[in-house]
Amino acid sequence: MQFPQALETVLEALERMRDQNAQHPSASRATLARLKETKPAEAVASNVPQTPFREPIEANRPCLEPRKIDVSQHQNATKSDQLSAINERVCACVKCPNLASSRTQTVFGIGNPEADLMFVGEAPGADEDAQGEPFVGRAGQLLTKIIKAMGFAREDVYIANILKCRPDTPGSAYGNRPPTPREMETCRPYLMEQIETIQPKVIVALGAVAVEGLLGTRAPMRELRGQWNEFNGTPLMITYHPAYLLRNQAPKEKRKVWEDMMQVLERLEKPISEKQRNYFL
Ligand code: URA
Repeated sequence: MQFPQALETVLEALERMRDQNAQHPSASRATLARLKETKPAEAVASNVPQTPFREPIEANRPCLEPRKIDVSQHQNATKSDQLSAINERVCACVKCPNLASSRTQTVFGIGNPEADLMFVGEAPGADEDAQGEPFVGRAGQLLTKIIKAMGFAREDVYIANILKCRPDTPGSAYGNRPPTPREMETCRPYLMEQIETIQPKVIVALGAVAVEGLLGTRAPMRELRGQWNEFNGTPLMITYHPAYLLRNQAPKEKRKVWEDMMQVLERLEKPISEKQRNYFL
């Protein structure tokens, strides 16, 4: 393990202890003696090659578009280059050790880097973890249907999640669990960077977790959905997560999502056909 990652691991452990109200981190005499012998962090860090940390999860963690581009100094870097550079860091991220060790791969986001419309969901599920792409399972197929009914192709919009890793489900072979507030807080900066890069005209938050991750708001979805909010100056529409519509097949619930999407089309100044107005998902 290289020094910055080792340091990050130690800091994570200390933060966990703080969260658990531990008063005194303990270390053996031998450990303390070895720590005293360690070179100052700056000196060691300056010797570290500028490549992202790769072990121990490299083998089963293919990146989407794995390209090594340092775009931080390039004002003319395309949005695609910028997203690739963020993805590089996401692929190497081990800030949530439990998620980093349980994931098959990170799930960054997919779609048009120049998209006017961006959808934000909760976190990858088993299908997304396996394929490395958000919203490819059953809920994803319904989202794709919604996107098409709006007159877009999946490739026209951008789709991402609050979390880039599948929440681990120890002891359970299948199923999903919601992200913890701490996981959301840890992963949020990556999503912020994605949004700042893409600069969509409208963001759609899919479900309560997306709302909490983006706006920090917790409330019943029946009160939140259908409302315009703002995320750092970008209009944000809240609607139900497609998984909710899979659980609740009532036409009136599906119609609500469609009405929310028509508000989005109006905001994007896209014409809405008569067929679209009468559409039920
Ligand atoms: N649910 C989500 O919120 N995101 C996905 O990528 C898949 C299912």
